[in-house]
Amino acid sequence: MVQARNMNLRFRDGAVEDAARIADLGRQTFSEYFGQVYKKSDLDAYLDNYFSVEKVGKDLADPDCDYRVAEAPSGLVGYAKLGPTSLPLDNQDKQTLQLHRLYVRESRKGVGVGGILLSWAIDRASERGADELWLGVWSNNEHAIQVYKSRGFVSDKTYNIFVGDTKDQELMMSLGLKAESKNRLSA
Ligand SMILES: CC(C)(COP(=O)(O)OP(=O)(O)OC[C@H]1O[C@@H](n2cnc3c(N)ncnc32)[C@H](O)[C@@H]1OP(=O)(O)O)[C@@H](O)C(=O)NCCC(=O)NCCS
Repeated sequence: MVQARNMNLRFRDGAVEDAARIADLGRQTFSEYFGQVYKKSDLDAYLDNYFSVEKVGKDLADPDCDYRVAEAPSGLVGYAKLGPTSLPLDNQDKQTLQLHRLYVRESRKGVGVGGILLSWAIDRASERGADELWLGVWSNNEHAIQVYKSRGFVSDKTYNIFVGDTKDQELMMSLGLKAESKNRLSA
C-alpha cells in the first residue's frame, strides 16, 4: 500500500481484466473535468471512441502499452497509460514513448495520486529505453500543464485534434529522460 497523503491506495499494473473499470474511470473522469467544454454529441463521440471497453481492452492486451492504476478500497481512482508515440514529432531519430493518459478522479485531485502515476510513467519510459517521454495536453488545461512543467517537461509545438466536431488545440510537451536520470543521480 502506498500512502498518497493519508489515502489507502494500491498502485499496480493494469490488466486485461480491468478493461471495464478503466474504461468507466476514463469516461467519468473526462466528463468530470471537460464535460462542460463540449456539446453532448461531441462529448459522447469522444467517449465512445476512446473509452469503449473494447478499445481499452485491446490496449491493455497490447504488449507495447503499459497501464498503471491507483486503486482505493472503493475502486479505481486514477490511471496512466504509456505506449508508442503517435504525436506528430519533427525529430524521429530519438527513441520516444508517449504518456497517452493521466487521469485522477476529481474528488481525489491535488493529493498526490497524479504525481505518483507520473513518476511511474517517467521511470517506466526510462526502463523501456526511451530517450524522451512525450505527451499531448489541451492547450487550455493550465493545471495539467503546470503539473508537467513542475516535473521538467518542456513545451513544444501545438497541433489540432477533434473532439467530435470540435477542433481543439493540443500542446506537445516532452521530457528528456537521460538528462532527468543525470539530474536525479547528481541530486
Ligand atoms: C492532471 C492530473 C492528472 C494531476 O493529478 P493530481 O493527483 O491532481 O496531481 P498531484 O496532486 O499528484 O500533483 C502532481 C504534481 O504537480 C505539482 N503541481 C500541482 N499543481 C501545480 C501547480 N499549479 N504548479 C506547479 N506544480 C503543481 C504537485 O506539486 C505535484 O508534484 P510532485 O508529484 O512532484 O509532488 C489531474 O488533475 C487530472 O486527472 N486532471 C484531469 C485530466 C487531465 O487533465 N489529465 C492530463 C491530460 S494530458
